[in-house]
Amino acid sequence: MSIDAAGLFVPLELRGVTTRNRVAISPMQQFEAAQDAMPATWHQVHLGQFALGGAGIVFTEAMAVSARGRISYGDMGLWREEQADALRPIAAFIRSTGALSGAQISHAGRRGATTAPWDGKRPLVADDAARGMAPWELWAPSALPSRKEAQTPLAMDAAMIEQVQAEYVRAAALAERAGFDVLELHGGHGYMLHAFLSPLSNQRTDAYGGNREKRMRFALEVVERVRSVWPANKPLFFRVSSFDGVSGGWEMEDTLALVPALMARGVDVIDVSSGGVGGLSSNAAEHTRMPGYHVPMSARIREATRARTQVVGLVTDARQADEIVRSGGADLVAIGREALRNPYWAAHAREALGDADYKSWPEQYAWWLRARRDHLAR
Ligand SMILES: Cc1cc2nc3c(=O)[nH]c(=O)nc-3n(C[C@H](O)[C@H](O)[C@H](O)COP(=O)(O)O)c2cc1C
Repeated sequence: MSIDAAGLFVPLELRGVTTRNRVAISPMQQFEAAQDAMPATWHQVHLGQFALGGAGIVFTEAMAVSARGRISYGDMGLWREEQADALRPIAAFIRSTGALSGAQISHAGRRGATTAPWDGKRPLVADDAARGMAPWELWAPSALPSRKEAQTPLAMDAAMIEQVQAEYVRAAALAERAGFDVLELHGGHGYMLHAFLSPLSNQRTDAYGGNREKRMRFALEVVERVRSVWPANKPLFFRVSSFDGVSGGWEMEDTLALVPALMARGVDVIDVSSGGVGGLSSNAAEHTRMPGYHVPMSARIREATRARTQVVGLVTDARQADEIVRSGGADLVAIGREALRNPYWAAHAREALGDADYKSWPEQYAWWLRARRDHLAR
């Protein structure tokens, strides 16, 4: 079958934009932000390489909607105009290559104030103040620490809820100011939106906790408010942890109830992940991690709700990714760690699927590669 007939290299129209293929580079925190959560040259190069590498959408890491919403001092932020203005050339470069630029925004909630992974990904403590990394007060749905040794967060009152929701709205407006094509709300991995959804982290007894409908309220209000400032011609993605992987937690059937409510409020694509509420890991239990381990959840969401999905998790091979799209497993395939190993993954995938014309390479490279191919053939 031709690679243009179906599968990974067929463009996808989403509201007023079209992805050149079905490959998205998954959001990946770099812990490399400059002072004041500003983007650094690192991010320009890091994200730029994926755009040159042929991906359809290149997502930024989770950018914090406020200083309190950061995971670490190394996170990029999106709460000041200066941050948006510094992101503008990054988004513009991504777009100039033919990829769409995607901004992921997040509030870390009770999972904030930690060190980078290679620094132990441990909670910041008072002693860290000596090296300019004082811990800050965490906010969350309930006063439950994310793990035993973590800080106990403050349970948010009505004013704090209003403030955080307004921060998401401000970040969405700043993402538009920066010129991003796609916005993703991080609704998984135990961060603020997911923390409200999961009964493991939300034990409130007011309008924002209790039964599933009440636990969904915070996220749905954020979506509604964000959609009202994010342009109608640009797609909105929502990353879900489709299940917690911890007993008594959020389950697939909860996700199947959440998705139609998200869609009704203007979410265009459900980005299917899992886990994160129960501890360190951002994905569900280790033993479930096999190649394409979220594809069954993504397929089920697509089938049950007619939502468009993006699937993530150990997708590493071109044929595997192509088959996911062809078989209806997902509309988009997100590549994370494999793109760290090979930032040109999408371009290589197209070659592996039979394109000998370097169609996913920038013309500045493709011209030479075609000339070399012809030379070698003579
Ligand atoms: C270095 C790194 C940073 C990550 N940061 C984020 C992030 O900012 N937001 C997010 O939603 N997921 C984040 N993730 C999870 C990835 O987006 C992805 O879901 C996960 O790595 C599984 O996909 P993979 O097997 O293709 O790597 C991160 C993963 C890695 C490896």
